[in-house]
Amino acid sequence: MNLPIRPRRNRQSPAIRGLVRESRLHPEQFIYPLFLSGNDSNEEISSMPGCHRWSLAGLVAEAGAAFDEGIRTVVLFPRISDNLKSPRAEEALNPDGLIPHAIRTLKHHLPELCVITDIALDPYSSDGHDGLLSPDGRILNDETIEILCGQALTHARAGADFVSPSDMMDGRVGAIRAALDSENFTSTGILSYTAKYASACYGPFRGALDSAPRSGDKKTYQMDPANRREALREAALDEAEGADILMVKPAGLYLDIISDLHAASSLPIAAYQVSGEYLMIRSAAAAGWLDETRMIMESLTAIHRAGASLILTYFARTAARCLQARAS
Ligand code: PBG
Repeated sequence: MNLPIRPRRNRQSPAIRGLVRESRLHPEQFIYPLFLSGNDSNEEISSMPGCHRWSLAGLVAEAGAAFDEGIRTVVLFPRISDNLKSPRAEEALNPDGLIPHAIRTLKHHLPELCVITDIALDPYSSDGHDGLLSPDGRILNDETIEILCGQALTHARAGADFVSPSDMMDGRVGAIRAALDSENFTSTGILSYTAKYASACYGPFRGALDSAPRSGDKKTYQMDPANRREALREAALDEAEGADILMVKPAGLYLDIISDLHAASSLPIAAYQVSGEYLMIRSAAAAGWLDETRMIMESLTAIHRAGASLILTYFARTAARCLQARAS
């Protein structure tokens, strides 16, 4: 054939494929979500096989092992015991609570680790919602933000590098920025859940924290999965309010949103490969239907290719080890 243009020329050997590869994963990009309980021993999470709720000592060991594999950042999620949950989620403001304690412990043992904390009320709320519930069943936006600001300050005082509002209340990024700045925490960053969708993929996570809503759902604050342009509106607001990093969640089913935000903003874009995405891969691999490592790396590559430079993933350690093995 007279065929001068042959795309296969660029695929003919590992060396050439390496030369023309457009996106690469690196363990530094991964943010490792870690669950913790106030208990003395580590617990397997039944709704997320392969994940644990760590004791404080277990948390330090796991974060340290991840750090040694090149993962420099963790995000913390607490399992709060039932007797500490309340309608107004006061425990979220406790300076000696589980999260402040964990931040101080991690910073003591692993001073170079970047520690991110989640800002939302659901682990602390007896109603299981990210915001305060009014007697007639509405989520109260402005009243919630006051508590979120206190929660962010509590974490900043304990030494968090970034706070990460996952609640989707309107105006919370600007309010948290102002609260942090008012106490001179001008270096504490905000990783905002900018486009967080009301997804079926969060079920296993809510099992891990026992944080499912006791009534209703989260559709009045999390975004409608059918909406794409609305994510740009959220992104413009978060950027104007002072967010340092924008996040899309879930990740794999929302690659168009990642791509849109990457094009629309010059801020770094993060994406969260959530619990349901983790289990879709794990369960299919456990059944012998799919190759787990290849699925993990392909899913993370796709998220990165779409425009996310940071990825929150429960597979962080597996992926880091895989990248290490490829490099050696
Ligand atoms: C809640 C929160 C959720 C997740 C992170 N923060 C669940 C929810 O919104 O109900 C989900 C993460 C996952 O599924 O892995 N503030």
